[in-house]
Amino acid sequence: VDICTPSPRNPMLTLRKARQDLERRRNIVDDALENLVQEKISSSEAPAMILARDVILAGGKRYRPILVLLAFEAAGGEDNSLVMDLALSAELLHTATLVHDDIYDQAKTRRGIPTLHSTHGVSHGIIGGDYLFVLGFGLGGKYDSEVVARMAQSCANIAVGELLQFNHIGDLSTTPEDYYSIIDGKTAGPFASACQCAGMVAGADEKITNSLEEFGWEVGRAFQLVDDLLDLTGDPSMGKPRGTDVHEGKMTLPIIHALTMLHGSEREQLADVIQNFSDDRWGELTSLLEMSGSFDYVRQLIDNHIGRAQSVLEKLPETPARSLLFQIAKQSRSRRT
Ligand code: IPE
Ligand code: IPE
Ligand code: MG
Ligand code: MG
Repeated sequence: VDICTPSPRNPMLTLRKARQDLERRRNIVDDALENLVQEKISSSEAPAMILARDVILAGGKRYRPILVLLAFEAAGGEDNSLVMDLALSAELLHTATLVHDDIYDQAKTRRGIPTLHSTHGVSHGIIGGDYLFVLGFGLGGKYDSEVVARMAQSCANIAVGELLQFNHIGDLSTTPEDYYSIIDGKTAGPFASACQCAGMVAGADEKITNSLEEFGWEVGRAFQLVDDLLDLTGDPSMGKPRGTDVHEGKMTLPIIHALTMLHGSEREQLADVIQNFSDDRWGELTSLLEMSGSFDYVRQLIDNHIGRAQSVLEKLPETPARSLLFQIAKQSRSRRT
C-alpha cells in the first residue's frame, strides 16, 4: 500500500504527501543553487561569489522558486528543466533585494547568519547585492522577451515600492491604500510575475497565465502581511531580528490600523511610542495594538487574501501541482519563519 497516496478520507495522509512533495521541490532548488555557486566559485567570478554565497546557501524558505516550479506544472508544463533558470532567477533577484534591504534597514541578521554588510561592510554589501541581481538577470534573460520584460517590470516596481516606503517613514497619516501600494511593489508584484512567467514558459494560454498572476498577487500580499505581523510578534527562530520595522519607523498595517482605531490619550501614546521607539516600549506597543484589535484585523485580511488566492486556482485544471499551490497558500498563514 502506498501510504503517500492522497486520500480525501484521510486528510493527514494528504497533508503528509503534500509536505513531501513540497520538500522534494525545495531540494531540487537547493541542489541547483549549490551547483550554481560551485560553478561560479570555480570561475573568474569567484571573488564576487565568495561574497554572495553565504546568504544564498544559508537557506531561506525558497518560496518564490518553489512557486515557479509549481505554477509551471499547474499550467501544463512537463519538463521542469525548461523552467529551472526562471526559478533560480526569482530566488537570486529576491536574495539581491534582501542584501540591499538589510543595508537600508540596518539589519544585523538574515537567514540566521550575520548580514553581508555587517560582516563585510556596506560597500561590499552593495556590490554583493548587485552581483546577485546580475546573476538573476543572466539566468532569467534567456527567456522570451515577453517574460524578460515582465520580470524587469516587477523588479523596477520593487524599487518604486521601496521608495514609497521611505516616503512614509514615520508618517502617521499613511493610509491602508499607501500600504498596499508599498507591498504590491516590493513583494506581491514579484510573486505575481514569477507565477505568471512560469505559466508563460509552460506555453499556457492567457486565461491560465492571468490566473497564475492573480494567485501570485494574493499570496504575495498575504505573505508580506504575515511578515509584518511577525516583525511585531515573531521570535528569534525567524532568522532575522524582530522589531526592525518599528525601529525604522515603517508604517505597517497593524500600526496604521491602530492609529485609526485609537483616539484621545491612547492615540497620542501610540504616536509617541512609534516616533520615540526603544526596546523597553515593546509591552506598551503590543498592548495598544491588542486593544485596537489590529492583530485580528490583519489576520482577517491575511485570510481574505489566501481565500482569494485559493479560489482563483479553480480556474486551473485539476492537477497535483494545483493542490500544492492551494497548500502553500494555506501554509503561508501559519508560518513562523
Ligand atoms: C523576506 O522574504 C522579505 C519579504 C518579502 C517579506 P522571505 O521571507 O521569503 O525570506 P527568505 O527567502 O525565506 O529568507
Ligand atoms: C521586504 O520587506 C522587502 C524586500 C522586497 C526585500 P521587509 O523589509 O519587511 O523584509 P524583511 O522583514 O527585512 O525580510
Ligand atoms: Mg527589511
Ligand atoms: Mg519585514
